[in-house]
Amino acid sequence: MSLVVCNTIDQLRQHLSSERSMGRSIGFVPTMGALHQGHISLMETALDETSIVVSSIFINPTQFNDPKDLERYPRTPEKDLKLLEDAGCHYVFMPDAKEIYPDNDVLQDINFGNLDKVMEGAYRVGHFKGVATVVDKLFRIVEPHCAYFGEKDFQQLTIIRYLVQKLNHRIKIVGCPTLRETDGLAMSSRNQLLTAEQRNAAPVIYKALKESTYWIKEFPIEEVKKKVIEIIDISPFLKVQYFEIVNSITLENVLLYNESQPTRGCIAVLTDGPRLIDNIAY
Ligand code: PAJ
Repeated sequence: MSLVVCNTIDQLRQHLSSERSMGRSIGFVPTMGALHQGHISLMETALDETSIVVSSIFINPTQFNDPKDLERYPRTPEKDLKLLEDAGCHYVFMPDAKEIYPDNDVLQDINFGNLDKVMEGAYRVGHFKGVATVVDKLFRIVEPHCAYFGEKDFQQLTIIRYLVQKLNHRIKIVGCPTLRETDGLAMSSRNQLLTAEQRNAAPVIYKALKESTYWIKEFPIEEVKKKVIEIIDISPFLKVQYFEIVNSITLENVLLYNESQPTRGCIAVLTDGPRLIDNIAY
């Protein structure tokens, strides 16, 4: 079956209700396009687990706290469609903004407690409100059995798991590992906006995160954080915005490492161009 492109909610719903009536399970991979192998790996997992895979490409304006970031966000629709088709994705939903946000539409106002106050939430105020709004809308449109999200955006994945529970969506959320370039840089749509110098410097981020998996067993948390930040900040092209070591479920700061508790190191690094995020499990 070749890829079916749907631009309206009605079109997509019609197709999916006929798939459902034939007893097929639906896997969903929401994206903002500019697709790379990281996105495709989510589709592949979905294809293994469900009979029909739906992807969406929608650059969600409400999750961009910086209008310049929205303007510069890479757009490669033709290449995306080819990648989706080659990956074996069945449907792609590509709505325009009016389809998702008709006039006077309001944003979700879920109380996420600590989850959206820290890290990305602190530096990109309102970002997760926009993410939660669009993901909830997409879930209601697609009504998938399973939805696939990357660990690359660890805080987003945590917040979506919480949203599903809080809004009683009957959707299984599947977290998928981060795909990396051969030098360790986490794949990201924004990587194509890096200059050659920034791109050459960027692999130190994952190198430092990997080192920290050893340091955490030896040094106090504050020392580990300091060492990671120091290594990265040596580069004139990179500046750590935050590096936090948190409980993987509550996202609260860990003060004393305990290997029986799920723990994650989450980092954001500024360049003169795109901002880079990454994380690692301890
Ligand atoms: P986007 O950045 O396009 O990412 C879509 C999905 O791909 C997310 O679940 C993200 O975590 C995953 N992903 C990105 N890079 C990855 C990598 N290197 N390895 C594995 N997975 C990766 O995240 C969004 O879009 C949006 O916020 C969205 C959820 C679509 C809501 O607008």
